[in-house]
Amino acid sequence: MSMDRYVITGKQRLEGSLRVSGAKNASLPLLAATLLTKGTSTLLEIPVLADITHMIEVLKHLGCGVVRQNEALLVNAGTLSSCEVDEALMRQMRASNLILGPLLARNGRVKISRPGGCAIGTRPMDQHIKGLQQLGVKVKEKHGYIEAWADHLQGSDVYLDVPSVGATENIMMTAVLAKGTTIIRNAAREPEIVDLQNFLNKMGARVHGAGMDVLRIEGVDQLYPAEHTVIPDRIEAGTHMIAAVMTEGDVVLENVIPEHLEPVIAKLRQAGANVTLLNDSVRVQHQGRIRSVDLKTMPYPGFPTDMQPQFMAMLSGAEGTSIITETIFENRFQHVDELCRMGAQITVEGRTSVIRGRETLEGAFVEATDLRAGAALFLAALAAEEATVLEKVDHIDRGYENLEEKYRQLGAKLRRVIQKG
Ligand code: UD1
Repeated sequence: MSMDRYVITGKQRLEGSLRVSGAKNASLPLLAATLLTKGTSTLLEIPVLADITHMIEVLKHLGCGVVRQNEALLVNAGTLSSCEVDEALMRQMRASNLILGPLLARNGRVKISRPGGCAIGTRPMDQHIKGLQQLGVKVKEKHGYIEAWADHLQGSDVYLDVPSVGATENIMMTAVLAKGTTIIRNAAREPEIVDLQNFLNKMGARVHGAGMDVLRIEGVDQLYPAEHTVIPDRIEAGTHMIAAVMTEGDVVLENVIPEHLEPVIAKLRQAGANVTLLNDSVRVQHQGRIRSVDLKTMPYPGFPTDMQPQFMAMLSGAEGTSIITETIFENRFQHVDELCRMGAQITVEGRTSVIRGRETLEGAFVEATDLRAGAALFLAALAAEEATVLEKVDHIDRGYENLEEKYRQLGAKLRRVIQKG
């Protein structure tokens, strides 16, 4: 990983419009799902991001042919030749565990290095494994590898202890080719699950209920390649909305599904921001300071944990005191110390943080520790007095396509300093 930095001059009002990219977190399971057929599937609006590049590397390593053709990404899974992924590749990105389900369904066997924890907390896989076992999969964990195999996949009833997004996706992608019916209860309800259902059904699968907490999957014998356009990135859109508020700007975001942003929009409005919904775009305008609000991260349709750091950046400048409770990841307050370097007044007690709003934030030397923490610091820098040097922006590259270009277009003053070596 190179370690580039941004130098950002704050207090520039953002104005204009920009187009939101396709969703990273929808693209990753869709890419994994292409493994389920023996032909070439076409995915549109897959963003150009480090995490996507990693997933493509994994697919290529497994023998798939992957090419970008203008706006389309073509994945030929007909040439699949391996069902093993080693540590070097797995460690780069946790979401590569999404190949577990499709490879089992397609091949009856898979071996992957167990993905490690990450900066925001331990990342267990017990719900993925439990679900697969319920479908007749044998699982062995040894020397840091997860090996799974099944002679026969049998539909079954799966109850998830927590509505895990990844576990729901993995189990769905296994059950589509199992014999009989699978029911997943307490399933994750995120829009990315709905997008995966839509793609799978275009391939000939029979999945119902995505977006609700009970999913019903009737297994079929075979799936066929399909074409699909990935949904817009709701977290990217939410991040830009906050940028508009924090710079007292006026920004129109195109290519959004406002419904997916409901929990975020509700909080922004409660804080006093002016949000106008149009068909597939939203406009955010704001002047003056926002009001403090309390929030708690929850599985969808609750407030997304992936927007928590960005909201904290915004609330650092609010009038009054806000309380943020993080219920999804135990260690997702790494942005706090860095925000404090910029003058924010935040204290943390366990899963709760108390943010005393300040009139202004100040530019400083800060460091991105993970993707959304990096986004939070980026936002704080846009609103801060004078210049901020934001280090390790490669973390931000994992989730934001053309960030520099997009923000320049809106009137931000920033430049990327490339670190050699
Ligand atoms: C996905 C998103 C990530 C987001 C997260 C929560 C992708 C690629 N990533 O991650 O950006 O922050 O949802 O919205 O879509 N858990 C278990 N056992 C398991 C699996 C998860 O206990 O087997 C717990 C986790 O520790 C966590 C919670 O469930 O507390 C949610 O995790 P999960 O929904 O699985 O997150 P991911 O799918 O990894």
